[in-house]
Amino acid sequence: MPVTPLFCAENARLDYARQLASRFALPLLNRRPVEGYWLELGPQRLELVTTGKHGAVYAEFVEGAARHRREQGGGRGQPVAKAVGLKGAKALPDIVDATAGLGRDSFVLASLGCRVTMVERSPVAAALLCDALERAARHADTADIAARMQLVHANSADWLSQLVATARPEVVFVDPMFPDTDKKSAAAKKDMQAFQHVIGDDMDSARLLEAAIAAAKVRVVVKRPRLGAAIEGVKPSAVLDGKSTRFDLYIIKALRPDDSL
Ligand SMILES: C[S@@+](CC[C@H](N)C(=O)[O-])C[C@H]1O[C@@H](n2cnc3c(N)ncnc32)[C@H](O)[C@@H]1O
Repeated sequence: MPVTPLFCAENARLDYARQLASRFALPLLNRRPVEGYWLELGPQRLELVTTGKHGAVYAEFVEGAARHRREQGGGRGQPVAKAVGLKGAKALPDIVDATAGLGRDSFVLASLGCRVTMVERSPVAAALLCDALERAARHADTADIAARMQLVHANSADWLSQLVATARPEVVFVDPMFPDTDKKSAAAKKDMQAFQHVIGDDMDSARLLEAAIAAAKVRVVVKRPRLGAAIEGVKPSAVLDGKSTRFDLYIIKALRPDDSL
């Protein structure tokens, strides 16, 4: 993937722009590009922008859809909550979201009370997440949820494999960008096209699934379009069907019967 640079026209925010550029190894420009895609730090937030037809993309935990989900969301009965095993559970699991993206699934799970480690390998997505998390931490409605979320900029397959036994999460959540048509049409909204263009497809999900199964103490959950293919390799132990989304569950006790949790 070509490197995506960062530009900031706000003098008051240049220090923050430098911190983002340094943490996520983004080239910092002193002039706005005339073509292509770039990250722009404005007065309010960090956005992925382009001169082309796509709208700006940013991660958001305070307003818009995140606010709606926080206020009207389906609680522990919603499909993603059932998939990670929250329905009827007494204790809330620690979750690693191994494909954090724009953090929407992580935010739902953290809103339900889970501690969520968001792991993201793309510097662009990780920078957008970092900025959204920082804004959420400063807002009274979301500060407690943000406090349950942390961001790691790494390849999850590598990061999960180096975890010591005491740091292994109960649940690993995986939602890769598949190079299949149903995912593309599901993400057909113009703004998401920009994200897909910059991030690209995830062609190594089988390796990630293996690392997730080796690291998770209780289960691995793979989110897929309802009719999408499962990740190659280990077969799911159970499947939860939703309206447009399916969750493939890999129950660790069934897969590693001798594992001492
Ligand atoms: C479809 S998006 C995830 C969307 C996310 N579930 C959300 O709610 O916004 C997939 C993301 O996973 C990231 N990803 C894929 N494989 C990864 C890996 N092995 N390690 C870290 N991030 C990965 C991609 O960079 C991309 O940002």
